[in-house]
Amino acid sequence: MLSLASNKVKGKLLRQDMRRLKFREQFDAVTCLGSAFTYMQTHRDMVSALRGFYRCIKDGGILIFDCFDAEDFKLKRFDRWREETQLFGDVRITCRTMSTNWRAEDSSWDVHWVWVVEDASGLREFSDVTRLKAHRLDYLASVLSGIGFRGIKRLECKRLTILAHKSTKPS
Ligand SMILES: C[S@@+](CC[C@H](N)C(=O)[O-])C[C@H]1O[C@@H](n2cnc3c(N)ncnc32)[C@H](O)[C@@H]1O
Repeated sequence: MLSLASNKVKGKLLRQDMRRLKFREQFDAVTCLGSAFTYMQTHRDMVSALRGFYRCIKDGGILIFDCFDAEDFKLKRFDRWREETQLFGDVRITCRTMSTNWRAEDSSWDVHWVWVVEDASGLREFSDVTRLKAHRLDYLASVLSGIGFRGIKRLECKRLTILAHKSTKPS
């Protein structure tokens, strides 16, 4: 993914675990989108990532991240495959996904993925299973404010998307 991104992005690309970021007050903004935060399974993982984001950001900077809203899970469909096909030039990619094993105690579940890639060289299949976790706004907000973020608010987006500010000046 980094080599693909390097064709489009100028600047440094690094592969790092968001729970172990070592940057110090270097960035005006940190974004963590596309549900990457959903991979934070435990309270410890979640706090490590959010503390790391806080340290990365310069005073006056912002954090925007998204995740699945634990409150919305009554709407989610389990144990049923969904399929979507997209064409990228001569390459056809079919993606099948299914969510299973919902656990209400910690709002976590498994997602199964199967990708079928068809191109001139034939047909290849890839699969993956990942455990994900939905989060609650009130809980995230209390962790964020405990870390020092201010002006925490939910943005109008499809997923639970949160904006938080780092400001060490008294308001
Ligand atoms: C659903 S993808 C979203 C990718 C991208 N942000 C986007 O919007 O297209 C979730 C990404 O989170 C990454 N991820 C999972 N755990 C991570 C961790 N501990 N640190 C950094 N990235 C992680 C996965 O490798 C995956 O690329």
